[in-house]
Amino acid sequence: MSGIERILVVGSGTMGSQIGLVAALAGYDTTVQDISEPMLAKAKAELSARMDTSVAKGRLTVAEAEAALGRLFFSTDLESAAARADFVIEAATERLDVKEQIFARIGQLAPEHAILATNSSTLGSSKVAAATGRADRVCNMHFFNPALVMKCVEVVRHEATSQATVETTLELARRFGKEPVLINREIPGFIANRLMGAVQKEALALAAAGIASKEDIDTTARTALGHPMGPFELMDMVGLDVIDFIAQATYAETGDEADRPDPQVAALVAEGKLGRKSGQGWYSY
Ligand SMILES: NC(=O)c1ccc[n+]([C@@H]2O[C@H](COP(=O)([O-])OP(=O)(O)OC[C@H]3O[C@@H](n4cnc5c(N)ncnc54)[C@H](O)[C@@H]3O)[C@@H](O)[C@H]2O)c1
Repeated sequence: MSGIERILVVGSGTMGSQIGLVAALAGYDTTVQDISEPMLAKAKAELSARMDTSVAKGRLTVAEAEAALGRLFFSTDLESAAARADFVIEAATERLDVKEQIFARIGQLAPEHAILATNSSTLGSSKVAAATGRADRVCNMHFFNPALVMKCVEVVRHEATSQATVETTLELARRFGKEPVLINREIPGFIANRLMGAVQKEALALAAAGIASKEDIDTTARTALGHPMGPFELMDMVGLDVIDFIAQATYAETGDEADRPDPQVAALVAEGKLGRKSGQGWYSY
């Protein structure tokens, strides 16, 4: 892992902001870059507030929190941030055209040795690798929300990803305090979303057939399987629009009837019932 000192995170939204703080807390000189000044300002304020809470709860000392925030920079300037980066984690808006453009630019701007990873949940890095001119140093490094808390990082290699890139990315995730897992080839949903999807699909089928209520299905997942929440509760937490979007992306890629987006979820989304964030989903909040 020698050689990795400076990290660039592209995108300062839900994921990018927290990934930036994860890297800074692990001791890396980290820049979070975004095209939006307001998003950067929001990220900066939220992360400072989080550090205050961590100090108040005794999880960090004032000195540790100040040191982490002192290593964390916010910028709209991709050029200078990329030019110094040893490792780039892209966490920008989930759109292929946006990501292609970013990867083409960081492929030109970042030092030759830098690894370029995407945090995308649905786009395999093979889709952006060619644009970089260094396909062997490109992979997915997929964090989970909230990135400060969740231990799992899925590292996904594509056909041209080198073994050195895989090993460095796994090791960086460990230095971030995470427990990375390796996915040997690209598959929609990687591991976690596939497992979650399988449980969700069965839960939706049971409820649609009137076998059991959503409440009882959720209770069973909690009390028999030890899941922290049931599949309907989880869908509400993730956001039904996100669930529907992932299903649509998977279906578009596989064309498999078994992956067809669920009509019950689509109907809720059409009514603006998106889960916790809208106050109503499968449940009322
Ligand atoms: N939200 C989740 O639960 C979650 C979990 C795992 C992975 N992801 C993945 O993380 C990525 C980001 O998701 P998010 O939920 O943080 O999105 P978000 O909408 O909260 O944030 C995206 C940010 O990207 C910025 N952006 C857009 N175009 C840009 C560009 N050209 N250069 C720099 N910044 C740009 C936007 O201004 C915004 O601040 C996506 O690829 C998504 O698949 C999301």
